[in-house]
Amino acid sequence: MDYVSLARPAVRQLHSYSAGTTIDQAKRRFDLDHVIKLSSNENPLGSSPKALAAMATLTDANLYADDDHLALRARLSEPYGLRIENTILGHGSNEILLMFFLTFVGPGDEVVMADPTFSLFPADTIVTGATPVRVPLRDGVHDLDAMFAAVTPRTKAIVVCDPNNPSATCVDPAAFANFASLLPPNVLLFIDQAYREYMPAESVEGTDYVKSRRGTIVTRTMSKLYGLASVRFGYGFADQGMIDLMQRVRVPFNVSSTAALAAMGALDDSEFRAATIAMNDEGKATLEAAFRRLGLFAYPSAANFIAVRVPGEAEAAYTDLLRRGIVVRSGDKLGMPNFLRITIGTPEQNRELIAAMEAELPAWRERAPVPA
Ligand SMILES: Cc1ncc(COP(=O)(O)O)c(C=O)c1O
Repeated sequence: MDYVSLARPAVRQLHSYSAGTTIDQAKRRFDLDHVIKLSSNENPLGSSPKALAAMATLTDANLYADDDHLALRARLSEPYGLRIENTILGHGSNEILLMFFLTFVGPGDEVVMADPTFSLFPADTIVTGATPVRVPLRDGVHDLDAMFAAVTPRTKAIVVCDPNNPSATCVDPAAFANFASLLPPNVLLFIDQAYREYMPAESVEGTDYVKSRRGTIVTRTMSKLYGLASVRFGYGFADQGMIDLMQRVRVPFNVSSTAALAAMGALDDSEFRAATIAMNDEGKATLEAAFRRLGLFAYPSAANFIAVRVPGEAEAAYTDLLRRGIVVRSGDKLGMPNFLRITIGTPEQNRELIAAMEAELPAWRERAPVPA
């Protein structure tokens, strides 16, 4: 049977999500004992101890969770002056993204987004039968003027990924305020802030726009800051009217009791939160200084990862580092040729990375058609 011909035309245009190389795959490929993974922007400190402890208290796993999660939604929203009714929970923030698209976007619609940006934005646009309108980054940053200029009567939504994956850059808050004020009121504004907590203090605060501009949604996650990527917990804030509609397409019990316990525990873990941010700030400064010393250009990072340009092909540099037991992401596969996307690690991991790059650099320079 030809399943491809049975699939919806939109699905035929898609590829499966590529999560990058796992530690086991790296070990097997090059027969390695020691591998460090700096490829998925996970938390190198591990997981919030309070979240882990909370998960261990799980009882009644035979019963469905209370699907409203009222206490958790209140805890998440109150610090921002928002309410339970403004808050939706997801199996990771990825799921909220999909719920948003399934609720609001369909055939004939256009969705304006940066290029490159997080791969699920174009993928979810295509799944819903709509058309992604990709606007190239300018100097690695969302080109808000060009994105605004790309709005047409067909534009249903505009996506700003702040900080952007894979470039790690953030937009200027004043420029963003101007951009948001000019957008037509019937264009939905999706602000992905999976890395919000790592940003400089004076960055865009997505929840301000949820309060001030109708039709705005912001998403956040506990995958990064709290080290809960495998537990799957994300959340989003928007107008109650938007949330009510998205609740209609939400899969019942999408947030497990375990994930809800972890999230509640994490919210109490100010020590882990502070330690993560402090280590990331220090690691970022270390990597930025090392790249400068090595003569490598990196975009200014507002996240827990950094995009650095290497001489020659990124894919080759990625393989050379993999051979040395360091997994990074090749920008070739992320729409950022000649760049590596590297998660900021522990001090020890950063030292290993810098030493490996320094050792490989002469060969990369030799192979590069033009010096970089
Ligand atoms: C920009 C961006 N948004 C969303 C996500 C998804 O995070 P979650 O684990 O909450 O689904 C990621 C994960 O890497 C990301 O980089």
